[in-house]
Amino acid sequence: MRALSGGIDFGTSNSTVGFMENGQPRLVELEHGEVTMPSAVFFNFEDDRTYFGRGAVSRYTENVEGRLLRALKSVLGSSLIQEKTRVKAHSIAFSDIIGSFLHFLKENLETRLGGPVDNIVLGRPVRFVDDNPQADRRAQDELEKAAQRRGFGNIEFQFEPIAAALDYEQQVTGEELALIVDIGGGTSDFSIVRVSFERAQRADRKEDILASHGVHIGGTDFDRLLSIAHLMPELGYRTQTKDGKRQLPAGYYIDLATWQRIHMLYTNRAMTDLRQIRYEAARPDLVERMIDIVANRQGHAAVAEVERAKIALTDLTDSAIELRLTDEALHLPVTRGQLNEAISATVERVREAVAETLANADVAPHQITALFLTGGSSAIPLLRESVLDMLPAASVIEGDMFGSVGRGLALDAGRKFGV
Ligand SMILES: Nc1ncnc2c1ncn2[C@@H]1O[C@H](COP(=O)(O)OP(=O)(O)OP(=O)(O)O)[C@@H](O)[C@H]1O
Ligand SMILES: [Mg+2]
Repeated sequence: MRALSGGIDFGTSNSTVGFMENGQPRLVELEHGEVTMPSAVFFNFEDDRTYFGRGAVSRYTENVEGRLLRALKSVLGSSLIQEKTRVKAHSIAFSDIIGSFLHFLKENLETRLGGPVDNIVLGRPVRFVDDNPQADRRAQDELEKAAQRRGFGNIEFQFEPIAAALDYEQQVTGEELALIVDIGGGTSDFSIVRVSFERAQRADRKEDILASHGVHIGGTDFDRLLSIAHLMPELGYRTQTKDGKRQLPAGYYIDLATWQRIHMLYTNRAMTDLRQIRYEAARPDLVERMIDIVANRQGHAAVAEVERAKIALTDLTDSAIELRLTDEALHLPVTRGQLNEAISATVERVREAVAETLANADVAPHQITALFLTGGSSAIPLLRESVLDMLPAASVIEGDMFGSVGRGLALDAGRKFGV
């Protein structure tokens, strides 16, 4: 029997699984007919089972007792990967949690294909970690080990923006010099690729790929920045101590605003510290809100609400962050202008990365004829405008924001493993 193969786009926020069928790339239906699923894991303390994707998020939202983990990909290459997180009486290493998530995706692919899948192309950002090649290498090794332990025999890696380019190329008629911009939950990835129908047939594309580059900036950063600018001050961030000598310590506020750090607040030590901070605070009423969120394990719900407001501001100029606390309802209006202000320095770094990608490829901005946008955060108006502004001759091509990379990885698996 021929070995089966596929591609996995393990995203910071969402994941997809691709495979080839009759020469066409397709995505596996992972949950209730949905081809994308949140990269979320929930350890349910009530029934001692582990849930993935929407099943994980919904149990958390329904206040089932347990532990939710999100943005796990951001842990790769960081010191957090060595750590274990408490799940009831025992501790589980982050690498094993990532492994169990990959295993869930593998099972879905195998069910779809009707047999064991040995060959896999895993997508990876151009850089898991900025400006640290060793940590970046470690991140890929950690992901590879997690996949090996879960039974994948042959593992290949592909840059996510190259996968997106392979998918985009399916619809190209002439020849284009394309800038592929994939701005997801955790990273912004760029490739400059010569694409055409004829080139798409070649097995080796090295000479068509003029440059790839990436920075560790994505939607989870925009959530964090919006939260720090507009939610955290309402919980006491940047307020003074009673004696007026200093500001309250920022650390726990940053943790609460950062998807992959929220679980760090759920310790006795953090609660003791927060009570001490409240005692010393000039505005204990604000810190009380923070304690309320942490005590009720509403950290992920709070960032999810900030994320919801951020997404709403893609289509609307006004929105609000709404939080229900034990004794009050918070209603914090926020405008698109305020979002833009909160993220502008970070968007500028994305522009710099685009400029660097062009320079690495030795391509002038006006030579780019197509801008292929993909990834959920590419919808943010300020980001689109900022990038398009740099490319006077490019037409914008809208990708499938959530499916391009997974389908491109399937195409790549087809080429690499000959299926
Ligand atoms: N309409 C929208 N406007 C703004 N942001 C959006 C929109 N839709 C989704 N997002 C954001 O896009 C991100 C998810 O995008 P995507 O699924 O492409 O990321 P990912 O593939 O999981 O991450 P990565 O590729 O960086 O590992 C989230 O941060 C989400 O808030
Ligand atoms: Mg992605």
